[in-house]
Amino acid sequence: MEVKTSKFGQRMSELTGVRAIMKDIIETLKSAEGKSFLNFSAGNPVVIPQVDELWRKITTELVNSKDFSNVVGRYGASKGYEPFIEAVLKDYNNRFNLNLTEKNILVSPGSQMLYFVAANTFGGYTSEGEIRHLTLPITPEYTGYGGVSLHKECIKGFKPLIEIFEKDHEFKYRLDRDNLTIDKNTGCIFTSRPCNPTGNIMSLEEVNFLVEKASANSIPIFFDSAYAAPYPALNFTEMLPVFGGNVAHCVTLSKAGLPGERVGFVLADENIIKPLEAFQTNACLHSSRMGQAMATLAINSGELQEICLTAVKPFYMERMIAMQEAAKKFLPNTIPWFLHRGEGSIFAWIWLRDLPISDWDLYNKLKEHQVIVVPGSTFFPGIQDKSWKHQYECIRLSLTVDKPEIDQGIKIIGKVLSECYS
Ligand SMILES: Cc1ncc(COP(=O)(O)O)c(C=O)c1O
Repeated sequence: MEVKTSKFGQRMSELTGVRAIMKDIIETLKSAEGKSFLNFSAGNPVVIPQVDELWRKITTELVNSKDFSNVVGRYGASKGYEPFIEAVLKDYNNRFNLNLTEKNILVSPGSQMLYFVAANTFGGYTSEGEIRHLTLPITPEYTGYGGVSLHKECIKGFKPLIEIFEKDHEFKYRLDRDNLTIDKNTGCIFTSRPCNPTGNIMSLEEVNFLVEKASANSIPIFFDSAYAAPYPALNFTEMLPVFGGNVAHCVTLSKAGLPGERVGFVLADENIIKPLEAFQTNACLHSSRMGQAMATLAINSGELQEICLTAVKPFYMERMIAMQEAAKKFLPNTIPWFLHRGEGSIFAWIWLRDLPISDWDLYNKLKEHQVIVVPGSTFFPGIQDKSWKHQYECIRLSLTVDKPEIDQGIKIIGKVLSECYS
């Protein structure tokens, strides 16, 4: 049957960012015919045994409790499951010395939904027809932002400055304050901290600069804390979060073992929360209550915070170290490769300066050698300057692969790069 879709229907049917490449990866893996691939493309977190154990124990507790029928058998408040809200507010208020109330929180079915709702609540076109951008101050950024605005042209990514530590084969993205535009045509700002795909943690100075700019223009700034503390605590260096004023602090439990349950929340001023809550209610009533009820028990007992520090963080930190060691050992010194400083997240990001072929050609070449990576150009949503070559010179490697495979994969990448640069 042929169906006609609306303009928004067409826009939302587009495969953006990594989703566009996942189809190819899945087909490659399916048609592998006995070949085994070293797959560095996964975005799905690893099921860590201790974390799995915790959620199993808690689920059993919940299923056997008198609350269970109420949790799964009834609709709830659009803002979120009340005991979950209480647990989160208590934890955040104690931990960060805040005075948040239930007016300052909205629970969402995963944080992706939250970004969709925020991008179209604060970004898009005003009733007078003026454009309001969804601004990404340091791009490369989370590929999922590329699909959240109903108006593609509203997404505006800004190039970063690149600080190079030449001798160490390392680099770090910095905010390019001089070339960043935040003005009356900015609707909202999104930034992931720690960043997927780069592992960058924006400095507090950079954060404060952005918050001031946002505040001066009366726009909300969304700090995507998908990898931050307390859950999942995937920051490998110290980082202080910011709250209050125009800041919307967004959290998800997806990297703390619950991606399938779709639990996220945002903490912000009630004037930011109110329109988001109304929009979300129109779209989906409320988030699933089972995941929220599970998380309530794990947060109230302190077990979630504990397991993130004792199991989740060390798991990925060890792999980041393994990746750094493998890169030093197996990537040729003569090639201008640079690993982004591994400050957090579940990914490593490599920049191949002056790469003689495109990131996609490299992806295809590596596939021939049974190594799958993600071409970096899928992580530059909203970048206007398509001739900026840096965006075609990077690859993302997932830290979900274990150490022997990291060594094996990086060795192969080193060989393929030697051929490319020679
Ligand atoms: C930086 C970042 N933000 C948001 C998301 C979306 O997560 P979820 O919708 O599962 O909360 C992801 C998922 O990988 C992510 O890496």
